[in-house]
Amino acid sequence: MQEFTYKNEELHCEGVSLKSIAAAVGTPTFVYSKNAMVARIRAYEAALAEAPHIVAYAIKANTNQWVIRAMAEEGAGGDVHSGGELYRALNAGVPANKIVYSGVGKTTQEMQEALSAGIMLFSVESIAELKTLSGVAREMGCIAPIALRVNPHVDAKTHPYISTGLKTAKFGIPLSYAADAFEEARRLPALNPTGVHIHIGSQITDLAPVQEAIHHGADLVRDLRQRNFDIQYFDAGGGLGITYDTEEPPEPDAHVHAALQAIHAMNLTLVLEPGRALVGNAGVLLTRVLYHKQTEEKRFVVIDAGMNDLLRPSLYDAYHEIRAVDDPGAHERVVADLVGPVCEEGDFFAKNRALPHVPGGGLMAVMSAGAYGFTMASNYNSRRRPAEVFVDGPRFALIRRRESYDDLVHHEVSGQLDWLDGNSER
Ligand code: LLP
Repeated sequence: MQEFTYKNEELHCEGVSLKSIAAAVGTPTFVYSKNAMVARIRAYEAALAEAPHIVAYAIKANTNQWVIRAMAEEGAGGDVHSGGELYRALNAGVPANKIVYSGVGKTTQEMQEALSAGIMLFSVESIAELKTLSGVAREMGCIAPIALRVNPHVDAKTHPYISTGLKTAKFGIPLSYAADAFEEARRLPALNPTGVHIHIGSQITDLAPVQEAIHHGADLVRDLRQRNFDIQYFDAGGGLGITYDTEEPPEPDAHVHAALQAIHAMNLTLVLEPGRALVGNAGVLLTRVLYHKQTEEKRFVVIDAGMNDLLRPSLYDAYHEIRAVDDPGAHERVVADLVGPVCEEGDFFAKNRALPHVPGGGLMAVMSAGAYGFTMASNYNSRRRPAEVFVDGPRFALIRRRESYDDLVHHEVSGQLDWLDGNSER
């Protein structure tokens, strides 16, 4: 995270002190380094320069339109997972013909929207979905370009909740059945089966399983071509991990080369769908210490950010480094649990950790919070979702304002209720 460094004993994002952001915008606030993200997408683009490719940024990692736009300006496409993500990608200027749409539960409405937009590929995850998509496309008088997402039964060796390539997972079509599924797609009207998609999981720090999965996919492409399928796209997914703690994940160029090597000379357009690897280390959650609390058993440091703002520690027991914003040298360490204000014992950021001693009123940064931070935030406990800030060199800009109390009730019906008769016997 070299865009987050101490200057004059204060933590900065690029050229901006986090203290000045807290003073201007308040806390908790997500702060993103634009240049850190841009450097990562450029690393992917540079490694792929010689090959026909699309880097489809997995926008679920961070959906702020300014982040998506920064990626699109570097030539990225988008990997979307819902009608809402499709809307956001198009709205932020991602060209439709660079969008791939995955997910096991697309509705017919979402299919219609994606067909109207003219996306590059649907990644279809089941036979039932194939049939539904075929029907929707036929009704609309168009052809749906599809990849089938295959499940290669390869262990990504990551957290079980984000491991998607095992045969017990809900994702993909088993490799053993994939060729039959393509045959089914060929029999159905209004489908153009033209791609193979594999994504085995997220926060992957060893590329060996990724390579193994891609080799299975490449074998499938050869088999399909023998059956006269016109396969043009190979979507090798995303999943490259980042350093949260002591992990030493491969760099984007290694991810690219692992994929390119497996499909070498096959005349395929390579699609990659990195999310976390582009934005994860480019963001922090800036938060203020409220209280120190000592019980008979242990010490707690209570901050103004909670699990509703950054869910990863609560949901995956994920590690995020915690830094003091002020004066790194002067802080003694205290062993404590770092917790939020939410009414859950599961509301924590660190457990029994030697934390920098920041007194009440001081600022802390929860590091590596650029991916799956704001996008997984909720309003639980009627907490307003945090602000988001973009930093570019010496300047910063608000890219999403903190929610207001009015935002919390905004969608609820006010005034008279419109009661409808629901009694089917009448
Ligand atoms: N492509 C597909 C089909 C995916 O399902 C995902 C992530 C990606 C690409 C992007 O994966 P990435 O490059 O970011 O690893 N909330 C979890 C991560 C969930 C990932 C879901 N799918 C977390 O905070 O760790």
